Amino acid sequence: APLSQDELKTLVGQAALQYVVPGEVVGVGTGSTVNKFIDALATMKDQIKGAVSSSVASTERLQALGIQVFEAAEVESLSVYIDGADEIDHQGNMVKGGGAALTREKIVAAQSKMFVCIADESKLVDALGAFPLPVEVIPMATARVMRQFAAMGGSAKVRLKDGQPLVTDNGQHIVDVTGLKISDPLQFETDVSQWPGVVTVGVFAHQKAQVCLLGTSTGVKTLT
Ligand code: A5P
Repeated sequence: APLSQDELKTLVGQAALQYVVPGEVVGVGTGSTVNKFIDALATMKDQIKGAVSSSVASTERLQALGIQVFEAAEVESLSVYIDGADEIDHQGNMVKGGGAALTREKIVAAQSKMFVCIADESKLVDALGAFPLPVEVIPMATARVMRQFAAMGGSAKVRLKDGQPLVTDNGQHIVDVTGLKISDPLQFETDVSQWPGVVTVGVFAHQKAQVCLLGTSTGVKTLT
């Protein structure tokens, strides 16, 4: 039988262990694929110093498995950061933030020498933009940011949770933008990051993946 999406996530989560450097602290992202990685990481917890985590959810999972979690500020640089993506192109540019953790993810990615993306093959795209682009915004600026996206041909919605604007780990809101063509991810990230009130745009081009472990029907493919 073909492997399910869940099994593909397990495979890439296990495959990512080969990038974990013994004796060091590893950067850990957020999401259902990363959860598989965290479970696999528990098998080598005595060989690592610990982890820096990009979300409350991942921190709790790591700690529950007995893996020590350090604050980002306690660790100067990390050899590797392992995280999923909502979309990844063939150059390693990504859209992230489906789990609302994009700001902390970008911070930990920025302090890591290498980004290893783990994903099932449904995430691989020729061009970014089909997945609604998450942007974390200071609430005071939300209406203006949404108008700016509309002027670019996009359509932005405030992400809700239980009928109220979702509040991120950093106390801000998320807008999800559809209808954008992100043909130059690096330029797009540079531009939108400078809009007043934008905390983080979910395009990861400055912090793109150097390696992508992609779960496919024929096994794990390594894209570099
Ligand atoms: C979290 O904010 C996102 O960037 C995740 O990396 C992304 O949503 C991938 O999650 P899954 O592994 O659950 O698809």
